[in-house]
Amino acid sequence: MRIVQLTVNGVSHEVNVWPMARLMDVLREDIGLTGTKEGCGEGECGACAVLLDGELVNSCLIPVMQANGSKIVTIEGLSGSLQEAFLQTGGAQCGICTPGMIMAAHALLERIPKPMLDDIREGLAGNLCRCTGYQKIFDAVTLAAKSA
Ligand code: FES
Ligand code: FES
Repeated sequence: MRIVQLTVNGVSHEVNVWPMARLMDVLREDIGLTGTKEGCGEGECGACAVLLDGELVNSCLIPVMQANGSKIVTIEGLSGSLQEAFLQTGGAQCGICTPGMIMAAHALLERIPKPMLDDIREGLAGNLCRCTGYQKIFDAVTLAAKSA
């Protein structure tokens, strides 16, 4: 076991964990932030996406030691504007993909505040959804960009 320091949504945490534990599990189980979801557990679906020092990553693929000393933003750390847009357009159904979609959409809107549809498709290309057929998700991101 090792002590790892993570600053999550602006709050510093020191956790005593197995160094190869997945960042996703440490966020959920040791720090108690269960908004980050596990979909595939293999880096394919984006449900577990968080920002690690400003970069969008799949937290199921990151050994926690790799994040030692880093700043992390999870879905709990974002303001509610994207969440609200997803609710309004029906972009969230079962909800498993939603936190990761919102993290990816947030990262996109930081880079491109007024994205075109192709930008949105590309920005969310690493995130899979089994429920919505994607159009309502794209509508949500468009709505959030308009209301920002
Ligand atoms: S759970 Fe991490 S990418 Fe699917
Ligand atoms: S809302 Fe169910 S997987 Fe996207």
